[in-house]
Amino acid sequence: MVALVGGMGAPHRPVLLRETIELLQPEHGGLFVDGTLGLGGHSEAILEASGDARVIGIDRDSEALRWATERLARFGERFQSVHADFRDIARVLAELGADDVQGVLVDLGVSSLQFDSSERGFSFRHDAPLDMRMNAESDEETVAELLARLPEEEIARIIYEYGEERRSRRIARWIVERRERGEPITRTGELAELVARAVGHRKSDRMHPATRTFQALRIAVNRELEGLDAFVDDAIDLLKKDGRFVAISFHSLEDRIIKQALRRNAGQCMCPKRAPVCSCGARLVVEILTRRPIVPSESEIAENPRSRSAKLRACRKLDTGRNSGL
Ligand SMILES: C[S@@+](CC[C@H](N)C(=O)[O-])C[C@H]1O[C@@H](n2cnc3c(N)ncnc32)[C@H](O)[C@@H]1O
Ligand SMILES: [Zn+2]
Repeated sequence: MVALVGGMGAPHRPVLLRETIELLQPEHGGLFVDGTLGLGGHSEAILEASGDARVIGIDRDSEALRWATERLARFGERFQSVHADFRDIARVLAELGADDVQGVLVDLGVSSLQFDSSERGFSFRHDAPLDMRMNAESDEETVAELLARLPEEEIARIIYEYGEERRSRRIARWIVERRERGEPITRTGELAELVARAVGHRKSDRMHPATRTFQALRIAVNRELEGLDAFVDDAIDLLKKDGRFVAISFHSLEDRIIKQALRRNAGQCMCPKRAPVCSCGARLVVEILTRRPIVPSESEIAENPRSRSAKLRACRKLDTGRNSGL
């Protein structure tokens, strides 16, 4: 099935789908947890692979959950959706009384449902309230509130670190100057225009000048990097012997966290060289299946330009029982 998103006519294609399925091996059945259900593309392929495969699909976006639940209704009790943060995977599974997990998948970042929405503020292409919260029902801060509160240096740091934007200081200065004039930014259109004026728009630029700034603020407001490292440990703990963990990331900071967490779980100490004792939590509980990250083929990128920056890493649980130390 090809999902048409919000009537926009843009089909959502699950990124690195074939590679993900080859690594998860759902054809043998078992329980799979999709921590980032989104529109349910990966989950659908897992459920189609075997009549014995079951999926618990987690998403913190209730709109995505509604969408995916409808799409996957034909699988009956083999599919179950949960409105939660995947970083709470241990609690969610304990509450469902689910264990013996055969595979865990996270496909990080935003879905096209979110990005193409004309109301949720993820894109500079639509003028909308400057929100960008994945969980729009939470009482967490929106990007507009974040920009109204944070000191200038902190705004600059976020835009630099999460957006890899060289002109971050200048953008932060412009945002704060506007705020000090009593005109805080509340809409995506205002932010896109301010950034374009602050950094200038060269004809040779392939991206909109506000792309990096929007990405950075989205990562900050959703705290996308926090707790990712501990999540990898929790997901691995839940896996049964030979179970698979697969993570697809779209940002170098995210990929680095996943890479280091997998190495730690493969027994490699990640402590600074001169540390007298190991305190990073290294333990030999998995075998890494991707020495280098798997990236999309040229044809996938041509078909789905949003897959361009994807990196997939995976591991297999060893026969060690829980929390076996080194
Ligand atoms: C790239 S999309 C997933 C697309 C999905 N694999 C598919 O094939 O349709 C990422 C999804 O993860 C969700 N998400 C991101 N971070 C999350 C978190 N910490 N907890 C739960 N869901 C999260 C987003 O709301 C979004 O719907
Ligand atoms: Zn260590």
